[in-house]
Amino acid sequence: MKVLVLNGPNLGRLGKREPSVYGSTTYADLVAMCEAAGAELGVEVEVRQTDHEGEMVQWLHEAADQKWPVVLNAGAWTHYSIAVRDAAAQLEAELIELHISNVHKREEFRHTSYLSDISTAVVAGLGVAGYPLAIRWLAERASA
Ligand code: DQA
Repeated sequence: MKVLVLNGPNLGRLGKREPSVYGSTTYADLVAMCEAAGAELGVEVEVRQTDHEGEMVQWLHEAADQKWPVVLNAGAWTHYSIAVRDAAAQLEAELIELHISNVHKREEFRHTSYLSDISTAVVAGLGVAGYPLAIRWLAERASA
């Protein structure tokens, strides 16, 4: 089994980007954390990040074709991208929408999600710790 962890715009700057909101863990640390969770659980985990919407759409098509479950932090695209939603809607395995911050405690425009109603679950506000938890849930579900 493989879990694809997809990160959208600005998430490559984790650690440097608004640390009071997103914490001091770097993107490289996040990748290592996700891979370690996969190694512990015996599942392959691949982590990607892009600032380009079309690339994200293509990765979601790949995940749909491969029937891979996806943990998706679409960043700002969450709140307005119908293209990312339409691509995510084609997934055949689970989709976990993830946010490092609790978007519901933040600005009004972050309360709208184009992904939540097509997602299996939403994780928000647990910081980067949400990623290994989402991976664990997917791994346990696959082996159940
Ligand atoms: C985010 C929340 C979004 O509102 C924001 O645009 C991001 C990151 C989060 O992980 O908390 O880029 O998805």
